[in-house]
Amino acid sequence: MSAPADQANQALWGGRFTEGAAALLQRFSQSVSFDWRLYKHDIRGSIAHATMLLKIGILTQEELDAIASGLRQIEDEIDRGAFAWAVDKEDVHMNIEAVLTARVPAGAKLHTGRSRNDQVATDMRLWIRDEIARDLEAVRGLQKALVAWAERDASVVIPGYTHLQRAQPVTLGHHLLAYVEMLERDAGRLADASARANVLPLGSGAIAGSTLPLDRAYVAQLLGFARVSENSMDSVSDRDFIVEYAAAAALAAVHLSRFSEDLILWSSAEFDFIRLPDAYTTGSSLMPQKKNPDVAELVRGKSGRVVGNLMSLLTLLKGLPMTYNRDLQEDKERLFDTADTLHASLEILAAMLEGTVVKAAKCRAAASDPLLLATDLADWLVKQGMPFRQAHHAVGAAVGLAEKKGVPLNQLSVADLKTISDVYNEEALALFDLDLALTNRLTAGAPNPASVAAQVKRWKEKLA
Ligand code: ARG
Repeated sequence: MSAPADQANQALWGGRFTEGAAALLQRFSQSVSFDWRLYKHDIRGSIAHATMLLKIGILTQEELDAIASGLRQIEDEIDRGAFAWAVDKEDVHMNIEAVLTARVPAGAKLHTGRSRNDQVATDMRLWIRDEIARDLEAVRGLQKALVAWAERDASVVIPGYTHLQRAQPVTLGHHLLAYVEMLERDAGRLADASARANVLPLGSGAIAGSTLPLDRAYVAQLLGFARVSENSMDSVSDRDFIVEYAAAAALAAVHLSRFSEDLILWSSAEFDFIRLPDAYTTGSSLMPQKKNPDVAELVRGKSGRVVGNLMSLLTLLKGLPMTYNRDLQEDKERLFDTADTLHASLEILAAMLEGTVVKAAKCRAAASDPLLLATDLADWLVKQGMPFRQAHHAVGAAVGLAEKKGVPLNQLSVADLKTISDVYNEEALALFDLDLALTNRLTAGAPNPASVAAQVKRWKEKLA
């Protein structure tokens, strides 16, 4: 309750306060240590608000000019790291406004008709809009890296897995393009989140709008928002747009985690399909031979944070009564962490893929087990007129017989096969050819090399 603290509190909150804030409270409630990141958007919003205040006759042109240039100067100082943030001014909004007002008398008019409740909601929407544009670039970057890799190693055959058991042969390109598809849906979800965030809350005041003739549509137009929000109470308490972003980001992070898991498996001695670039792997402090896929492991691990942030945000919101509650300040670190983690993961994976080398012979060898074509044999029996359930049985019996004789499935003789079904003949044994097996897959979306090549072409055009 020192005199300077009293003065600080009065300066901040006005005549209502006679006692200073406890130092503990200041430290507990401040957000400027993290929400300073909103400064560009806060300043953009303030200039638009002030421009509107001129239009409705609350500011003169001279006052607007002074406010706008004062804000631009503050922005420049923050850019250069020359701005003195003060924890006792709580958040980014109060810090900027206080310094502006100390320098420019008209600054005292800036907050006319505005509350930090609609201000912060506006800043966050502006921030997310820009962030999503940046994310979409990064998603495109990783898609391009995947498509480039798919093209580079288009003819490499690998086993496709279900239950992490070798199932059927696929091309590496097909496997990689699966992630391009996932990322495309991620981009769609992010773009949707951006479109729904693109609504102006400013002009909603603290909760119930204003008795001043604020021109909200004009502010929306100045800030490039598609429209103004329709309900002042919803506007100041809604954080759906952050949850939507966090959800889209969480799913994208899960996709990156799954891809990382594939890379980790592929680079292991057990699979030995790829060699990750030295620049993106690490050694062991003890075992000299080790080369560890840390980047992929960290991307996989960090996805947990992004998923956790989504849960934090949902939990933060679930018990809140209308309208603004200070709890909402807790949205920011979760949002920033989500954005930073997603962006870094997208960026580093794209960079790592460029130098990743495929061991084509090892891949092919792993896919060469004739058992991987057992389904093709069943399909052939179906083409000869056998009902599928019977064909499945007849191939299963052939697999059992090969096992009993200790030979690969395609080394059974026609006579062996005829003991199971009369339908078998030489043509059946000719099926056991990896390249034929792939070209035989003609269904839309299958790993036929020609259709994978067409998909690569389609993606290259789309992403160009
Ligand atoms: N720093 C605050 C936040 O992030 C700004 C809004 C404060 N509003 C209030 N009524 N205390 O939520």
